[in-house]
Amino acid sequence: MDYDKTSMPEGYDAARTYQPDVMADWMDRIVALVPVDGVEDIVDLGCGTGRYTAALAERYGARVFGIEPSEKMLAQARAKHGDGAIRFGQGGGEALPAADGSADLIFLSMVYHHLSDPAATARECRRVLRPGGRLCIRNSTQDRVESFPHLRFFPAVREIVARTSPSVAGITGAFEGAGFEVAGHEVVRHRNATNWASQRDNFARRADSFLARLADADYERGMAELDRHCETAPPDDPVWMDIDLLAFRVPATSAA
Ligand SMILES: C[S@@+](CC[C@H](N)C(=O)[O-])C[C@H]1O[C@@H](n2cnc3c(N)ncnc32)[C@H](O)[C@@H]1O
Repeated sequence: MDYDKTSMPEGYDAARTYQPDVMADWMDRIVALVPVDGVEDIVDLGCGTGRYTAALAERYGARVFGIEPSEKMLAQARAKHGDGAIRFGQGGGEALPAADGSADLIFLSMVYHHLSDPAATARECRRVLRPGGRLCIRNSTQDRVESFPHLRFFPAVREIVARTSPSVAGITGAFEGAGFEVAGHEVVRHRNATNWASQRDNFARRADSFLARLADADYERGMAELDRHCETAPPDDPVWMDIDLLAFRVPATSAA
């Protein structure tokens, strides 16, 4: 999906910025799968507005190169982060603007389903990673669709997920095909919003590729139902969603 042809960049941060404890929990889980030791250079591939970029630099004490195809997303990332440890470049996974063997970790958050050629991206990641390098993927998958909060109000999202989201097996196959080994996998119960009113405000920005793909009539009908639900929904009832976190490793002894 070309983000510059949608209205998602304008609403992205307002709709999708986490509470600090949610980001801290994600960083704990990422570091548990890919330990800090030996990670000096990170690529945040499809970094968007830089939601994870600074957190990765801080937690790993590493240099981070944020790579992103959308000019609008990249402009927001550059405006927020610009210290010596963080730099940005324009590009996509299928042709990374990074040198061979220049990274210890490549991180992709909610990017895999946007890749036009996952196999080419996997080969590019292999080229850019050093021997023993890691790749960490955080993505919604078909396997977790029943947990998606969208379904309750926007049932047509089920078909959109089936058509556009990867499966865990598909992601694993793409990276194993480029010579990676599986290094870990966790299904994370993510707090998507503190309550339904907050979730409603996020869905109202439509800065989510499932809602962006929904027919306008289905979107408006779902929002009206969600508004009615919010009149009685308890304020302390968080909204959850299961997200896959996968790690892969370049075999330490193999050639790229
Ligand atoms: C849902 S956003 C995720 C942004 C960020 N990683 C985060 O978690 O906040 C998806 C991002 O993937 C980018 N994207 C789309 N196609 C891509 C590709 N082929 N390679 C890398 N990134 C891509 C989009 O421009 C968008 O910024």
